[in-house]
Amino acid sequence: MNQSSRDGFTSSFGVLVATLGSAVGLGNIWKFPSLTGANGGAGFLLVYLLATLLVGLPVMIVETMLGRAARANAVSAFERVAPRRQWWWKSIGWMGFAAALLILAFYSEVAGWVYAYVFKAMAGQIATTDPQIAGAVFAELVANPLSALFWQWVVLAVTGSIIMFGVAKGIEAVTRKLMPLLFILLLVLCARSLTLPGASAGLQFLFSPDLAKITPAVLLTALGLAFFKLSIGMGCMLTYGSYFRDNQNIPVTATRVMFADLSVSLLAGIAIFPAVFAFGFEPAAGPSLVFMTIPAVFTAMPGGTLFMTLFFILTAIASVGAMLSLLEVPVAILSERYGLGRKRASLTTIGVVAVLGVPAALSASLTSEAKVFAMNPFDLFDFLSSNVLLPLGGILICLFVGWVYGLPEMARQLSNDGALRNRRLVSVVFFLVRFVAPLSIAAVLLHGLKLF
Ligand code: TRP
Repeated sequence: MNQSSRDGFTSSFGVLVATLGSAVGLGNIWKFPSLTGANGGAGFLLVYLLATLLVGLPVMIVETMLGRAARANAVSAFERVAPRRQWWWKSIGWMGFAAALLILAFYSEVAGWVYAYVFKAMAGQIATTDPQIAGAVFAELVANPLSALFWQWVVLAVTGSIIMFGVAKGIEAVTRKLMPLLFILLLVLCARSLTLPGASAGLQFLFSPDLAKITPAVLLTALGLAFFKLSIGMGCMLTYGSYFRDNQNIPVTATRVMFADLSVSLLAGIAIFPAVFAFGFEPAAGPSLVFMTIPAVFTAMPGGTLFMTLFFILTAIASVGAMLSLLEVPVAILSERYGLGRKRASLTTIGVVAVLGVPAALSASLTSEAKVFAMNPFDLFDFLSSNVLLPLGGILICLFVGWVYGLPEMARQLSNDGALRNRRLVSVVFFLVRFVAPLSIAAVLLHGLKLF
């Protein structure tokens, strides 16, 4: 299909902000600091960097490439690029469909807490330096079934109405405005945090690695985070790649997105850890770090209400771009394969997520005891998607490109038919995708399933 008859990004800047919008999300501001805090700081960061460079970036490049080569949704793309009799490759796309819905079910819930916290911060309801009171406010929000559902539905209404407008007029138009704003807010917060007395302990925690803290479990957690961060392994980057322009330099774009995403994570770390240390809080607070420790940290600093409100607005913004990219996977499949039309495909997707989201939203109340493998629905969805479907999808994409699609076709695609001189770089990416990435991902997957 040629470029013009299908919706797509309209400029190089549009490609960059939309793709970066997908990568930057709650992963940077909620998962990254809490995992870094819980896994010992700089050592974790070092391993995460290696995982991102050696596995994340190559997978991101080839996944995006498959999308642009096929110019189709995650399922149809594999029908187009796989050899004729190997129909089973399209199950990667269906796995992505399932993973997108599962991630959306819990992601929209966390985004809902963030939206609620914007208003709580403004109203001064979380202005307390006592982590216990902060904890009680958070518990009250998540344990009340009605408020948990209400905020999740607000999130779905907001992102659903954007996705309906399509790729250029919806995703691109919105991320173009939000991404620059996000960087400005983040810089303001960093300036505040770094000028606090005692900030250097936080920087030390973040940047001076203690190699003894790098255990096998830390290695594996870091690789899983790299997948989640770069939105890879489930056809999300593939779907966005299908909207890239013909002359877009894919390896360069992916590398830029990777570095910009990493900078946002580091800036979030710089905004959070110096403040955590300056006020004597616990960096290893885990997933609650953002919702319990952060309000306390902000309250303890001058101008706290303003900075706290800014922080949650920033996080809400970050969640929008990521959710749009998650929604686009099922929306593209439904609209292109079943001729549903953009509106009906969007409404169907939002409806399914709203239903799947109910057990996730009620995980701190009504369904907290509905346990499968000792996990409530929220944790189960997170586990199934991040620890099973993403790595599995990642391995399959690597095996497909490394062993079926092959180097010559990959070199042709990534050089835009010979227009770019990047043969050496492509060979390196091919080697990583053929051997290094599938083997390391297999290790994560097996560990995640506790098979070794
Ligand atoms: N990368 C996003 C974040 O860090 C989340 C996300 C968006 C994602 N699309 C995805 C994760 C696809 C896995 C797969 O918050």
